[in-house]
Amino acid sequence: MEDIEEERRRLVIEIYKNELQIRKRQKLLDTLTEIYLEALKKKFKETEDDLKYLNFTRAETIGEIVKPLSKDRFIVKGDDGARYIVNCCSKVDKSKLISGTRVAQERKSLTIMRILPPMVNPLVYNMVYQHSDDVSYSDLGGLSKQIKDLRDYIELPLTKPELFERVGVKPPKGVLLYGPPGTGKTLLAKAIANNTNSTFLAVVSSALLRKYLGDSSLLVREMFKYARDHQPCIIFMDEIDAIGRRRSSEGEGKNNVCNRVLIELLSQLDGFNELDKVKVIMATNRPDVLDSALIRPGRIDKKIEIPLPNQDSRMRILKIHASGITKHGEIDYEKVVKLSEGFNGADMRNICTEAGMFALRAERDYVVPNDFIKAVTKLVEAKKLESSSQYSVDF
Ligand SMILES: Nc1ncnc2c1ncn2[C@@H]1O[C@H](COP(=O)(O)OP(=O)(O)OP(=O)(O)O)[C@@H](O)[C@H]1O
Ligand SMILES: [Mg+2]
Repeated sequence: MEDIEEERRRLVIEIYKNELQIRKRQKLLDTLTEIYLEALKKKFKETEDDLKYLNFTRAETIGEIVKPLSKDRFIVKGDDGARYIVNCCSKVDKSKLISGTRVAQERKSLTIMRILPPMVNPLVYNMVYQHSDDVSYSDLGGLSKQIKDLRDYIELPLTKPELFERVGVKPPKGVLLYGPPGTGKTLLAKAIANNTNSTFLAVVSSALLRKYLGDSSLLVREMFKYARDHQPCIIFMDEIDAIGRRRSSEGEGKNNVCNRVLIELLSQLDGFNELDKVKVIMATNRPDVLDSALIRPGRIDKKIEIPLPNQDSRMRILKIHASGITKHGEIDYEKVVKLSEGFNGADMRNICTEAGMFALRAERDYVVPNDFIKAVTKLVEAKKLESSSQYSVDF
């Protein structure tokens, strides 16, 4: 009996020991499996990266769709101008493969692998306005009517074309801002650029001619193409008189180039529809020299005058520019404005700069009322001198 009991106890202990052993081994197995899985995952990731890299660097060539032949066969023009009939990989959206689309092709079979974005001339890309200096409508003094006009004629057709359709009028394709120098034409365009959700292309016409002589007409064409591809879009052409000068028949050299660029511009203005969401703003201080073909209705329908500021506007401009200056004492704005007869917006800003200079010279870090009076008097004198010497200079 005792023997049996002894044997039973021994067996129970053995089973218990074995169970402990099994649990220990199970634990070890779990840990090992975990480590093994981690290593596998890492390896998998590395292989995946390698594959991605291989995919990425797979030899591809670039082509352009000439036309679709059937549901999945296309005529494609290669880099070298040769044409091929090719297939298309199943994951490409074939409805987008219309003529002119740029595609990446597998180098050997020339199968279309991906659709590429249209090629943009980097010079045109540079024209896309970067919101660098934040000009808002409140930075403009005394131009509320012009701002309203511009918004009605440029922004409204872009944001609510249906209003024009309902009434049955064609919105203008473009407007011309004209007026003496320094009255805020460029500033106004910047304010529009900052306030619209449209793409904004800005180009200074004289720079367009100077920098890209020879390529200028191509650039005008590409600029309008970019605008049509990125609707809604506003094109701002500053100093348009550089291109838009009345054409001369005896065109030689640069004149000839201007003529060609102007002709291109005219044909581009004709080339889009009033209902396209592309609008053109041009600015000049020489409206008298512009070719009448450029500013005839149908091309530039609306002319907005930006005149010299009157007394009231001068006051507003002065206050805008004086607002950031540290002042001590009551500034007699009325008197400054009265003294600044004939000043433009840029001159009004200059009064503030000069007043600041007087303060600096007196080693103050604030401006006193008299600085403003001295500044305006100085500028009036300078203007007088300028206008009298203008005619005495012998060129
Ligand atoms: N109405 C205005 N309100 C506030 N500031 C103005 C105004 N007009 C001009 N200015 C000031 O004068 C500067 C020059 O103005 P802007 O360059 O817009 O003139 P413009 O009309 O384009 O001249 P230009 O015909 O010579 O190109 C502006 O940067 C601004 O500081
Ligand atoms: Mg300007």
